[in-house]
Amino acid sequence: MVNAIEETNVLGTFFDNHIDFYGNSDSTNKYGSTDAFFIEFIKKNTRKSVLDIGCSTGRFISWLNYFGLDMEITALDPSKKALDGINFQNVIKIQGHLPYRIPGNSKYSYIHIQDVLHHVTGNSVNESKKMVVDSLIHMRNILTDDGFILLGDLFYESYIFPTFTRNTIKTMLDFQNKCNIKIPFKEFINGLDVCFYTRDEFRSMIQECNLEIIDYREWYWGNKKFKKQILLIKRWGYMCFIIKKRA
Ligand SMILES: C[S@@+](CC[C@H](N)C(=O)[O-])C[C@H]1O[C@@H](n2cnc3c(N)ncnc32)[C@H](O)[C@@H]1O
Repeated sequence: MVNAIEETNVLGTFFDNHIDFYGNSDSTNKYGSTDAFFIEFIKKNTRKSVLDIGCSTGRFISWLNYFGLDMEITALDPSKKALDGINFQNVIKIQGHLPYRIPGNSKYSYIHIQDVLHHVTGNSVNESKKMVVDSLIHMRNILTDDGFILLGDLFYESYIFPTFTRNTIKTMLDFQNKCNIKIPFKEFINGLDVCFYTRDEFRSMIQECNLEIIDYREWYWGNKKFKKQILLIKRWGYMCFIIKKRA
């Protein structure tokens, strides 16, 4: 039987091996609009603590420190290499992962989770969805009553039917991993498994967990036409939610 630490290590090894792709230690040049959306909210709604889930090498944490947002900061990631790359003294580091390998004994006023939930995957889309819902429920349980979840993720929506592109990406990655045949997109890393969600799917998963969206913003990507055509994409981009517990 695989224990909790081994399970986290297996997942962490994949991200350890691809830290150059997923890590962003040089965050100083990359203060994007998604980070600004969250940081501006934190500036106006100061709270005691923040848990950054899937923090990688601490890109978002570096912005908290850069703007002098004085909070107790906890960084959580399955990748030991990523955690080792965080060089701030004021950060508590935890190796763990969603949905079930997250300590449940502390509460946090902010939970930040960007670009992570599409990595929380099972063997099928339905299994992956259930894991995301369980992750959101767990986040709700460790959020203070006056706290906020700051959630960002990618969306891909097809003009065939919205979930077509997501299903195709997941199937292509399954095929690549099982048959050991490399699909020639640089993002299709060997061993990668992802499950993206449409904007409607994300909204309904959030609402299903007794959570309320209090602010939302989205950005569209227009370029990279070749990939957009080959994956039959109508809309793709990034969505950011600010969420609180429903009363
Ligand atoms: C694309 S990076 C996002 C990094 C960071 N959140 C940011 O915004 O720059 C994805 C990160 O999620 C972590 N991750 C992958 N699966 C995870 C899981 N099940 N639970 C928590 N973190 C996970 C990876 O180790 C990686 O550091």
